[in-house]
Amino acid sequence: MEIKTYLNNQRLVIEDALERYMLTADMENSAFAHHIEAMRYSLFAGGKRIRPILCLAAGQAIGRRPVPDIDLLPIACALECIHTYSLIHDDLPAMDNDDLRRGKPTNHTLFGEAGAILAGDGLLTWAFDLLSNNGQSDSALSPKKQLEIIHLIARAAGSLGMVGGQALDIENENKEFPFDTLRVIHRSKTGALITASILAGAIAAGANQTQQKALTRYGEQIGLAFQIVDDLLNVTGTTEQLGKTAGSDATRGKATYPAFFGIDATRQKARAAVEEAQEALSLFDEKADPLRAIAQYIHTRSH
Ligand code: IPE
Ligand code: IPE
Ligand code: MG
Ligand code: MG
Repeated sequence: MEIKTYLNNQRLVIEDALERYMLTADMENSAFAHHIEAMRYSLFAGGKRIRPILCLAAGQAIGRRPVPDIDLLPIACALECIHTYSLIHDDLPAMDNDDLRRGKPTNHTLFGEAGAILAGDGLLTWAFDLLSNNGQSDSALSPKKQLEIIHLIARAAGSLGMVGGQALDIENENKEFPFDTLRVIHRSKTGALITASILAGAIAAGANQTQQKALTRYGEQIGLAFQIVDDLLNVTGTTEQLGKTAGSDATRGKATYPAFFGIDATRQKARAAVEEAQEALSLFDEKADPLRAIAQYIHTRSH
């Protein structure tokens, strides 16, 4: 499989679905046009769309036809809305204080801090509107499955997942941190939503317990690898290549793998996590090849 072509095609499928499922600043919503414009600015600023792509790929591994899959697309779009909200808030002056994201000025530099906070709030809430709105799609999901997926995503995005990880990340700036703290930060701030994206797609597609367990292991490992590589690229990449400010982790005294282990050992840890992720897929047939290719891509990505 040519991973670049695959990712590009899937990205277009997601962009198209986001256009259909996202609020527009049209007549009906015109009172909120500026707020909706702020949400759309970050949502459509680019981005690799890796979480929604993983959601679709997990569904495919369980046996769904490639794409487009009408059941999975609203879930996939909700995941991207949550992810984009997390980036808008992550960049705020009170958090990482970044002015470049996805190659463009960050949300708050254009819409102000209050506007950016509310754009994030709006995207997070819209995600759950999408997830709970069966009328949005021709979803064939049973209410029980739908509730299971909503709960899974809420848990991963909240205080026991991404939000908790972000809190720990901020609390540990410029501190001596034990490895265990670093592990928890990466697992929760990044790994939790990535794992939930995979599981949501798998559960929607009818995965059994054994398959869910294997995909959880896969998700945890690629989630960890994803953040380790993000840490590495922050040190070794350029601002132009990343579309966000290179070197910012060191400036802010962030708890990162390179800060803890140095570059070479960090590279090895990323490789080991990807190898374990590949191993976790051993019980799947060739329908999981996109998941295998994505794991490899995460290891070698340049932005
Ligand atoms: C960046 O995520 C934040 C992390 C969790 C490392 P991505 O690298 O997926 O960012 P986009 O969506 O492609 O901009
Ligand atoms: C981002 O972590 C994690 C979330 C947004 C949840 P980072 O702060 O390390 O990511 P970048 O480098 O700003 O994308
Ligand atoms: Mg951060
Ligand atoms: Mg950041």
